[in-house]
Amino acid sequence: MKTLAAALALIAPAQAGLRFPCSTLTIERLDPVVQPGAIPAAHVHHIVGGNAFNATMEGDVGERATCTTCQMAEDFSNYWTAQLYFKHPTNGSYFRVPILPVQPLLGGSQGASGGLTVYYTQFDLSRDNLNQQKITAFKPGFRMTVGSPTETGKPHVGLRYQCLTGQSRGREMDTFPTGPCTGGIFTTQHFPACWDGKNLDSPDHQSHMANTIKSDGFINAGACPSTHPVRMPQVAFETVWDTSKLNSMWPSGAPNPYVWSFEGTAAGTHADYMFGWKGDSLQRAMDKSECFYDGCGSIKKQAMSVANQCTIKETVREQTSGWLTKLPGR
Ligand SMILES: *[C@@H]1O[C@H](CO)[C@@H](O)[C@H](O)[C@H]1NC(C)=O
Ligand SMILES: *[C@@H]1O[C@H](CO)[C@@H](O)[C@H](O)[C@H]1NC(C)=O
Repeated sequence: MKTLAAALALIAPAQAGLRFPCSTLTIERLDPVVQPGAIPAAHVHHIVGGNAFNATMEGDVGERATCTTCQMAEDFSNYWTAQLYFKHPTNGSYFRVPILPVQPLLGGSQGASGGLTVYYTQFDLSRDNLNQQKITAFKPGFRMTVGSPTETGKPHVGLRYQCLTGQSRGREMDTFPTGPCTGGIFTTQHFPACWDGKNLDSPDHQSHMANTIKSDGFINAGACPSTHPVRMPQVAFETVWDTSKLNSMWPSGAPNPYVWSFEGTAAGTHADYMFGWKGDSLQRAMDKSECFYDGCGSIKKQAMSVANQCTIKETVREQTSGWLTKLPGR
């Protein structure tokens, strides 16, 4: 049967999957999931998505937001990660690493400003059409995180680094590249996709979800466990950190000079998600099959030139870019 499944997998195309760019909304010390109300929060985040974003946001974000930096015009969710910095190897100053839109596989990122690429897929790009469980969209108020800035061992499964050189993304690694990457550093963050069916959040922002990815990257995920039986979309982020103007300051043979905004270690890579799709739009997309990278036939898209006009007022007044003698909040 394995062989049959494998054979079918080869001819069956991917099912519903959304992949779309979101431009940068703001880069500042805010974190409404882990540190609600903290102005400023502990470390700098790179944030994309809807304009309802603020330090205390909660409830039905999709009803409250009026614009989004994402290509999918009905998606007012917010997505964020720590910000990457370059720590000068000799004088110890920090420089905020610029962000490039992820190069599109099939077009679509054109015109994005910085930002990250978001995926909502069924079995994480699986080509396995068998044993499908229905995908249930997140509910208003839903939030989660993956990874932890205090992790010092290995990063959580599905959190990865790649060294971009020329046309190649390189292999997936669980730590920073050990030498300069001409095309930048590529980070991927996969969230768990199985829900306990009850809680929109949990004290650690993680235990209401369970992960079934067994190893790296975009591969088939296992069935949801009985404790977390509800299969949700597999959410993943990809970010390209543009190191091209900083690499020349990395002396040959010196250790990796890139650090997250919390300093910590490479294992501390993490990501945050706050659901904010309008009405049943995400569910409609997930109910489709055989569609990928587009709006799955039902989601309204906007030009990135329009998405880029969605802005918010900066809340935390401090410098996060240019050369800094210390990381903000450290
Ligand atoms: C965040 O937005 C909500 C809804 O508009 C508002 O009630 C709240 O006061 C805002 N919080 C901050 C810190 O601005
Ligand atoms: C460290 O080096 C960078 C690059 O040359 C420079 O711009 C920055 O001002 C230096 N920082 C200090 C504290 O000298």
